[in-house]
Amino acid sequence: MSNQRSQHGQWSSRFVFILAATGSAVGLGNIWKFPYMAGENGGGAFVLVYLLCIAVIGVPIMMGEILLGRRGRGSPVTSMQRVSVSESAPKGWVLLGFNGMLAGVLILSFYSVVAGWAMEFVYATASGQLADAKDGAWLDGLFQSPGRLLFWHSLFMVLTTVVIVFGVEKGLERAVKFQMPLLALMLLVLMGYSATTPGFAQGMHFLFDFDFSKLGPEAILAAMGQAFFSLSLGMGAIMVYGAYLDSEASIAKTSFAIAAFDTTVALVAGMAIFPLVYSHGLEPGAGPGLVFVTLPLAFAQMPAGIFLGTLFFSLLTLAAWTSAISLLEPVSAWFVERFGWTRRMAALVPALLIWALGVPCALSFNMLADSTIVGKTFFDLLDYATANVMLPLGGVLIALFVGWQMRSHSVAEELAWDSQSASFKIWLWLLRVVAPVAVMLIFLNAIGVLSF
Ligand code: PHE
Repeated sequence: MSNQRSQHGQWSSRFVFILAATGSAVGLGNIWKFPYMAGENGGGAFVLVYLLCIAVIGVPIMMGEILLGRRGRGSPVTSMQRVSVSESAPKGWVLLGFNGMLAGVLILSFYSVVAGWAMEFVYATASGQLADAKDGAWLDGLFQSPGRLLFWHSLFMVLTTVVIVFGVEKGLERAVKFQMPLLALMLLVLMGYSATTPGFAQGMHFLFDFDFSKLGPEAILAAMGQAFFSLSLGMGAIMVYGAYLDSEASIAKTSFAIAAFDTTVALVAGMAIFPLVYSHGLEPGAGPGLVFVTLPLAFAQMPAGIFLGTLFFSLLTLAAWTSAISLLEPVSAWFVERFGWTRRMAALVPALLIWALGVPCALSFNMLADSTIVGKTFFDLLDYATANVMLPLGGVLIALFVGWQMRSHSVAEELAWDSQSASFKIWLWLLRVVAPVAVMLIFLNAIGVLSF
């Protein structure tokens, strides 16, 4: 089955797939969310749990997700339908595809709002105004302005939709080839600068010293959720990208590469940011404002601060952009397959829905700040429910489907792996038992059923 091409097109090489999937994985999750979450959850111990989740749960599930997409050659729903039929599995597995598409819609609605902050900061830095603003004042001003938040959110949704309209090959493929290396370069420059600041050692200690007393069940759940979010797992983004991958490429190698790039970017972002936090006498637990409050302070003092700052926030926007595309692609591909719509229609309809859901997210920082559900604003609720519940759930279902429902010889064939080899057996065991049990324990632990 996997010899076919998808009706939506195909990446021109394995390398492009790696770039695109890394583009999906590397985004706000790495540069914005990971540092502030590590900051809020006590640093090193959180980082360690996060790395464990990436290695033991994330990589095996990523292989499973790519494999499902490549075998199904369609949107998550269609792929699950096709593979279920060919593996004689119950039809209900298609729900896994729907859970993923729904998660993608929900994530993109708040993701786009945050990407909007990054765009505002491009403007503020480039115009030289940010350098004069007091600590955090710019972000506060933005939060108090629903109009500005909605303007940027709308613009970002337009940018995302345009790429989907043009198709993955023409839009995304060309873009990621230069965006990703540039992003890496910028982060390295920033880290280099951080290394020269007085807070460097303290920042490194914060990130890499393990203080387990700070690590409660909630923080462990957050680390796991972040691993899924950062690798773009459990919602079908990686599945649909896998559907566009040629049949010869090694799924194991590409998965390792993507996870390694993604993790490196998150760690480097942390290494760039925490030294600056300490050098400026700030607190690491600043929350979602961390990148938008702390980095501008550093830029204000650098010789080429305006240039570097503008470049940084532009690249943050680009990184968000390549991720956003992968959030919209699954549902758009499905509309094309299911209703025979043009790509334009299939991109526009879900984009409008996502835009509308983004409105209460943007207003969560001002008009709706006090309208909370279970103690969380609409923005926080979507973030929490998707990362900590929907993605891990989708991931576990992927693991169970590939591990238990599919025939091992189909799985081994798709991976071009000898089903008798030790490495295959270890992987299958991680997928069948370790990943589902670990995710379940973390869930139960967090809701207080178990207390370790
Ligand atoms: N991985 C992206 C990031 O780290 C977010 C994302 C999640 C993208 C799920 C696609 C699917 O920012």
